[in-house]
Amino acid sequence: ANSSFVHLAADPRVAPEDVVNAPVDESRLAPPVMIFSPQRRLSLGRDLCDGETISHMQQRLAGLSCGDVEIPAGDPQDIVNQAIDAFAGWDGLGGARRADMLECAADLLEAEPEPFLHLAIVEAGKIWVDAIAEIREAVDFLRYYAAEARRLCVHALVLPAVTGEANQLEIRGRGVFVCISPWNFPLAIFIGQVAAALAAGNTVVAKPAPQTPRMAIAATALLHRAGVPPAVLAVVLGGADLGADLVGQPGIAGIAFTGSHATARRIAAILAQGQGPLVPLIAETGGVNAMIVDSSALPEQAAADIVASAFGAAGQRCSALRLLFVQEEIADSVLDLVAGMAGQMRLGDPLDPATDMGPLIDAAALARLQADQRALASHGRMLFTGAVPETGVFMAPTAYEVGWDHLPTHESFGPLLQVRRWRRDQLPLVLTWLRQNGHGLTLGIHSRIDTLCQQIGKEARIGNIYVNRGMTGAMVGCQPFGGMGLSGTGPKSGGPFTLLRYATEIVTSINV
Ligand code: NAD
Ligand code: ALA
Repeated sequence: ANSSFVHLAADPRVAPEDVVNAPVDESRLAPPVMIFSPQRRLSLGRDLCDGETISHMQQRLAGLSCGDVEIPAGDPQDIVNQAIDAFAGWDGLGGARRADMLECAADLLEAEPEPFLHLAIVEAGKIWVDAIAEIREAVDFLRYYAAEARRLCVHALVLPAVTGEANQLEIRGRGVFVCISPWNFPLAIFIGQVAAALAAGNTVVAKPAPQTPRMAIAATALLHRAGVPPAVLAVVLGGADLGADLVGQPGIAGIAFTGSHATARRIAAILAQGQGPLVPLIAETGGVNAMIVDSSALPEQAAADIVASAFGAAGQRCSALRLLFVQEEIADSVLDLVAGMAGQMRLGDPLDPATDMGPLIDAAALARLQADQRALASHGRMLFTGAVPETGVFMAPTAYEVGWDHLPTHESFGPLLQVRRWRRDQLPLVLTWLRQNGHGLTLGIHSRIDTLCQQIGKEARIGNIYVNRGMTGAMVGCQPFGGMGLSGTGPKSGGPFTLLRYATEIVTSINV
């Protein structure tokens, strides 16, 4: 009964002798309710998106740089080894100290959002409103996982025990987490993965997408300024080869990956060949997301939500609407409205506050979409498309009506919507497609028939279901986000079970 609990002792409220001697002390149980309130994401937008403020911001942005971070030298094995060396100290620091640093990073980000706004716009091509939303989401992730670290990683959970024995469960870091992120949320997803891994007590080697390295450098600099030691969080820059190299390293303890389904499979294949400890993979991937609109829906509301969900952020959100099932009786009026609204969207320079849709991320993305469009042209009926700016990598909001035999099987990652009309007696076909297409990320329903919404919600195996509203922009803590099947392994990001999947559990039984 002389064990010493080094990491609990790091929390000034818990002394080692308390842990050993106290059989059950209710005051040391984790508080049941966490303290977190999400930012109202667009409140910042309302402040910034008015004429004078924006031109002032633009002048300030012009001279900003993204901050300095030392990119660790050496091969992936050396970098992973440095993170292994830093692990015991970071894990031993305790959840409260780690939470302090994440909250400090959130404060810094709120106080100085300009460089991050700048990078979201100029590096990732986001329009202002989306850039602001991205920063709000990153702030939310930092505060949410800080609150989760306080809830889960400060106090040991006291478990039932027979007389003369004390049992406790601690949530601890696993070791080195490799965090691999995509370009479409270059700040929010990068910070979301890293903050969850750090909060749980892991050290991190983060590899952002090669399209958005500067945002990752700026985010890493922010966390370092907030007190996270460089050895605890390292960022490395490269593409698929570097990612594959990292996930194959023998010393890593977990992988958080967000990106395409194909890449997730490649990572799983690399892990399957490993000979060392089993490495858990958290993979959040894409979806072929549907919205079902029935004849009771309000056409104007449905149309506005369809346009925002399919064409917002140029369709470059994993949550975006790809396949619209619209009931025959209401289809013409809804589709006319959608075509009208989409036609009003202004494509162009994302720095211009009047722009509704910025460019695609790169020429390769456009080429993939154009290939999808050619296939659609061969079997579908074009409903609408539009003109694009003369320079830049743009695709106009575009929609095709497709037959039951040609419903999409893969994600078209851009502003390309497919539409299928359905009659009342064809609802089973819609539900069968939902169940059998294999993806399970987001689903929209527009209907004023509660029983239909309930039936669809019950039968569909989809991670995030949105009723009578748009289907993108999940809020951290309020709408934990993530799919199933081909869309991901879980856990959801920004939810009450996220941190546990980044952590390990240690149970100690003491003869008192
Ligand atoms: P991607 O899979 O091409 O790349 C994602 C990351 O993986 C990048 O950092 C890339 O360099 C790295 N990578 C590529 N090959 C690798 C390999 N063999 N081993 C290790 N790492 C490798 O995806 P993308 O084009 O950057 O992002 C778009 C995709 O991400 C879409 O499919 C979208 O639906 C998905 N996404 C999903 C979510 C979600 O939460 N479910 C969120 C955003 C994006
Ligand atoms: N979390 C992002 C959304 O919900 C991907 O749109």
